[in-house]
Amino acid sequence: MRYQSQSVAYWYFAVAIVLFGLQIVFGLLSAAKYLGPDPLLDVLPFDVTKVIHTNLLIVWVLLGFMGATYWLVPEESRTELHSVKLAYVQLVLFTVTGVTAVIGYLFRYGTGNKLLEQPLPHKLAIVATMLIFLYNVGMTIRKAGRFTVTEGVLVLGLAASAVLYLPALFEFENYTISIFYRWWTIHLWVEGVWMMIMGSFLAYLLIRLSGVDREVMEKWLYVIVGLVFIAGILGTAHHYYWVGVPSYWLPIGGFFSALEPVALVGMAAYAYFALRRAGLSHPNKLALHWTIGSTVFALFGAGLLGLSHTWPAVNRWTHGTLVTAMHGHSAFYGAYAMIVLAMITYALPTMTRSPHEGESYLGYAAFWLQIAGMFGMTLSFATAGVAQVYLERIVGLGYLDTQLKIQVHFLMLILTASIFAIGVGLFIYDFFRRVPLTEVAADEAVELSASGEAQPAG
Ligand code: HEM
Ligand code: HEM
Ligand SMILES: [Fe+2]
Repeated sequence: MRYQSQSVAYWYFAVAIVLFGLQIVFGLLSAAKYLGPDPLLDVLPFDVTKVIHTNLLIVWVLLGFMGATYWLVPEESRTELHSVKLAYVQLVLFTVTGVTAVIGYLFRYGTGNKLLEQPLPHKLAIVATMLIFLYNVGMTIRKAGRFTVTEGVLVLGLAASAVLYLPALFEFENYTISIFYRWWTIHLWVEGVWMMIMGSFLAYLLIRLSGVDREVMEKWLYVIVGLVFIAGILGTAHHYYWVGVPSYWLPIGGFFSALEPVALVGMAAYAYFALRRAGLSHPNKLALHWTIGSTVFALFGAGLLGLSHTWPAVNRWTHGTLVTAMHGHSAFYGAYAMIVLAMITYALPTMTRSPHEGESYLGYAAFWLQIAGMFGMTLSFATAGVAQVYLERIVGLGYLDTQLKIQVHFLMLILTASIFAIGVGLFIYDFFRRVPLTEVAADEAVELSASGEAQPAG
């Protein structure tokens, strides 16, 4: 930690990973229901556990983004945060909003709009939190009078995420219209502006971990962001195939979304070449695992498995089946969960005092168990999904009859998900066995004054 105010990131990360743990509990609960019988049917039916599972995901990933931003901005702008107090107010407000929304779902209090189920008062509170956040970050940069390209892309991505949440504030009676605008938030987040956020964390981590030239890295960051937008904006139409809009969206969605993986190939190649150029000299090799791992898993889950069902002729059969869950899990985990875990792993050794010297073998176990578990879960959803499509949509078997025939895949899902859950548990344990620091360590203050890092772009 080079600036004292960066320590606020610790608390964002702490809340984020606790909610990550809770998300996994609700994932396991949801998966157990595939097998039945379900003793919790009256209290916690599938739709409730699933909505809590996915909403916790969004809350913790956003907390991770915010914490990582509060970590990154002081270093890039070389200044303390504008207001640490405001950052804590924002953390409390966002956590309370997220957690009360989740409790509300237990009582069926929500809008029912998938992934955007938050009731209106919660949505307004989320907007308020985002405004506080952007104000605090904006003022920090203004005060410093310097910002880097990495930081600029990050802040633009965050601001655009806030703007794209606005369509979610409206409720439409007409289902087609409602779905049409839902994707302006969901799709343009995960396949648009969140990629800017991921790209900038990636650039930051690669610059620090590989020591490769900032100028080169930031030039390629522009290219990646460009590629994301060329394909991602009109790629939204891959969600417009069967929702009641005109059929001209079919070729548009197919063509542009099929180009989306190019940006993901770009990110993985970017990470690979940074390493080839600069070697592996950084001591935090675990953070490097998470960083490179994120680009590779995102290429697999979002790029390859996204491509596998994005063409209308395929999506016609697979839409809304477990094939979607196959892609949803691997893409979200690879791109957004892993990049947040990479930022946490990078920051952790300098923001905490560890009871153990040297590398954390627990940390490596957490990494590999999660990778193996999520890979297995992806395959379980995939095999279940392909069988489901065949039995339900080609043979014409009913939904529940089909579910009975694919039980073996659900057993495999629970087995691999348990491996994943152990990995998550170890990550959380490894995090909390350290003691957070509130002061900048003396050697880092020296390192900062000697470093020629962080050339300003403006
Ligand atoms: C122990 C681990 C996990 C288990 C057992 C699990 C299980 C499930 C189940 C059963 C569903 C419902 C799928 C359906 O509608 O039929 C689901 C949905 C979902 N989960 Fe998980 N999950 C786990 C971890 C994760 C993680 C780590 C992420 C992301 C980082 C994630 C992201 C999602 C998303 C995005 C959906 C919605 C997908 C869709 O609607 O198609 N899950 N999960
Ligand atoms: C990191 C990037 C990505 C993430 C986190 C992600 C996540 C998701 C999630 C959670 C869903 C389910 C949404 C819902 O039904 O509410 C979904 C659907 C979908 N994704 Fe992605 N995705 C990503 C990138 C991509 C890419 C690059 C492609 C295409 C090449 C793609 C193709 C699709 C398609 C076609 C669907 C609709 C599935 C259906 O019809 O049921 N995704 N994605
Ligand atoms: Fe999409």
